[in-house]
Amino acid sequence: MARLIYFLAFVIGLVLVMNISKYQKQEVSNEKFDFKKVAEANLKKKKEIEELLKPKVEEKQEVVVVKEGPLVELTTPQLQAGHDLYKKCIACHGKRGEGKKGQKAPAIGGQFDWYINKQITAMQTGERVNKVMMPYISRLSPEDVANLSTYISKLPHMGQK
Ligand code: HEC
Repeated sequence: MARLIYFLAFVIGLVLVMNISKYQKQEVSNEKFDFKKVAEANLKKKKEIEELLKPKVEEKQEVVVVKEGPLVELTTPQLQAGHDLYKKCIACHGKRGEGKKGQKAPAIGGQFDWYINKQITAMQTGERVNKVMMPYISRLSPEDVANLSTYISKLPHMGQK
């Protein structure tokens, strides 16, 4: 009986020793307890999830730049010349000839060409006094004035009222 007990004790001891050596061979990993790594991994997952949840943009929308067409169809050399000369007048009279309150400049777009022509000519001769405009009109030829008048008479301002 005693022998049997010794034998059993020996076997149990042997099994224990074998198991212990088996556990010792296993590499101990601290990865699970490396909080920095775990946090990084979580963050990566979070980003991935966010990426997946993002509403998908089907196609990149093209930015369409709508160019404003010319206010007046520049079909004749006269209109083209008038258009070029009018650039100097825009600061006060506006792109559409709508005038500017701050400048005390009246609306002239769409006005009769003969009236515009008459006014500018009168200012040039001093018949009508307009000091602020003199620097812009004193050197204009009668042809320039005619071109300008034709262009301004075609400006859309008054037609829109
Ligand atoms: C510095 C501002 C200014 C600029 C630039 C200017 N104007 Fe004027 N314009 C005026 C003012 C102010 C009056 C009104 C004058 C008055 O009270 O008699 C006027 C009046 C006129 C009138 C008379 C309108 C009417 O109903 O009697 C015409 C036409 C005119 N401008 C055309 C032009 C043209 C063409 C140009 C460009 C070559 C031009 N102006 C540039 C300020 C300006």
